Amino acid sequence: MIEIAIDGTAASGKGTLARKLAEKYNFIYLDTGLLYRKVANELIIKKKNISNDLEYHSSVIARNLNFLEIKKEDLRSEETAKLASLIATHPKLREILNLKQKEFVEENKKKFSGCILDGRDIGTKILPNANFKFFIDASIEVRAKRRLLEKNISFLHEKDEKCMLQFLIKQMNDRDKLDIKRSISPLVPADDAYVIDTTFIDADELFLKVTKIIDEI
Ligand code: CDP
Repeated sequence: MIEIAIDGTAASGKGTLARKLAEKYNFIYLDTGLLYRKVANELIIKKKNISNDLEYHSSVIARNLNFLEIKKEDLRSEETAKLASLIATHPKLREILNLKQKEFVEENKKKFSGCILDGRDIGTKILPNANFKFFIDASIEVRAKRRLLEKNISFLHEKDEKCMLQFLIKQMNDRDKLDIKRSISPLVPADDAYVIDTTFIDADELFLKVTKIIDEI
């Protein structure tokens, strides 16, 4: 099975890239951030998000996580993302979710000729022997604008839009810092990853660049 690992910062374009690659090559795809977001969302719903024992509560939820129940639409809020990033610093939770990701790959080996996982530690931890590793990044301003577009909000006043953009820049900056600085599985490019900056290229150009690398090899 061909393995493709895609890591990178928030809203860098990694998710769109992963989806397009999965479609082109007919590979199975897993957005691993959704697992962390789902656990965070359950903590919020069960009002355990302010508990002192976040690692315990998130581990209980993670053990019972059902992949099929995860719906992306419910999990996109910044509140969920912030808590996802916080619980992602806990070793026990990561251990449980890592196992689930590896099981997912194993289960799909017979059905698909390739798999694509995107997240923060795919190239370094989950698929260390991946055939292709990509690390996607872009400037914080461009990433915040992309995230704002995804949210599809219509603003009455320009100043409200600017305010929302500033909020997103702060939220994403804080989250990137937490992801990069954590001691366990920090967000860093694998030594053998292709590092691509998407500040000045759009999703189609990124897709072309990456498929060229894959198809050449
Ligand atoms: O979509 P976006 O890039 O904003 O975030 P995400 O991929 O949904 O991930 C949400 C949070 O989960 C990240 O900020 C990380 O803290 C955590 N995460 C992780 O630690 N490891 C992964 N493999 C995937 C996500």
